[in-house]
Amino acid sequence: MSTMTLTVIAGSANMPLATSITAELGVKPRDRIVQRFADGELHVDIEESVRGHDVYIVQPTSLPVDEHVVELLFLADACRRAGAARLTAVVPYFGYARQDRRASGREAVGARVVAGLIEAAGFARVVAIDLHSPELEGFFHIPLEHLSAAKLLAEAVRATNDTVIVAPDLGAVKLAERYQALLHLPVVVLHKTRVSGSEVSLRSIIGDVKDRAPLIIDDMITTGATIEAAVKGLLEAGCKPDVSVVATHALFVGPAIARLRALPIRQLIGTNSVELAGELPTPFQVVNLAPMIAETIARLHRDESLEPLLAHA
Ligand code: R5P
Repeated sequence: MSTMTLTVIAGSANMPLATSITAELGVKPRDRIVQRFADGELHVDIEESVRGHDVYIVQPTSLPVDEHVVELLFLADACRRAGAARLTAVVPYFGYARQDRRASGREAVGARVVAGLIEAAGFARVVAIDLHSPELEGFFHIPLEHLSAAKLLAEAVRATNDTVIVAPDLGAVKLAERYQALLHLPVVVLHKTRVSGSEVSLRSIIGDVKDRAPLIIDDMITTGATIEAAVKGLLEAGCKPDVSVVATHALFVGPAIARLRALPIRQLIGTNSVELAGELPTPFQVVNLAPMIAETIARLHRDESLEPLLAHA
């Protein structure tokens, strides 16, 4: 059992989630100031002592991504300089995760840059949920605890006898297999090509979807292009107009809401990994990640195994 005080600091990216996590843990988030000066510079200040504490900073690096990344780094620096004994970054949604390799000659590998910054800020460990690429773990020298929301999301799914799990692209196959193990349903895989940041095209469907009810699973919905192309392709291939969609990170940017509302989606399930402040699609069911994150923090604080919560479990 740790003799350090458990301290949670909420970044500004998702205050409702951070509040819910601290309520689950029965602690009060430490008072801190996060403000922006007139010249656009960020200023953070931890208002209570964290000397010798086991500190967990909760900050999904969602839109505006760069601002939230820098705020996470500044909060860590402030805690480190104030004598925190151990720092953990709790990043329920990890921005830049899709920039995990060079797709052409002169691109930056954004995820690697962010991983380096997080380490340099003094964190001893990172907690993330349903990373776009689990391989991101290898970008860090410090431990990355990769949690999965798949079990919680699968529990919320209302499947029927004719439901098939659909991986909307080749990158989603591993995640689809995780849902398959939980729901005991067959898997169909779509072959998708990205045309631009907000357009994708469907090339082929591997598996039978005729008269089946598709359950599309993905790590994230951003512009909704992937889901739109998947649903349209599945309908053309003869699936039932009874579509369910499950995605951990509900970013819903740009045309996402309009796209999703125009599709015959019976069930759309996501989580509160990012703050759900704007317009939402209908239907939309939110699975609360706070209990799982709180349990993770409690286990880490007590130096207990995370095995049942990890993505590979
Ligand atoms: C891509 O490989 C991801 O898993 C998602 O399918 C994609 O990022 C979702 O973005 P959008 O909603 O813009 O298609």
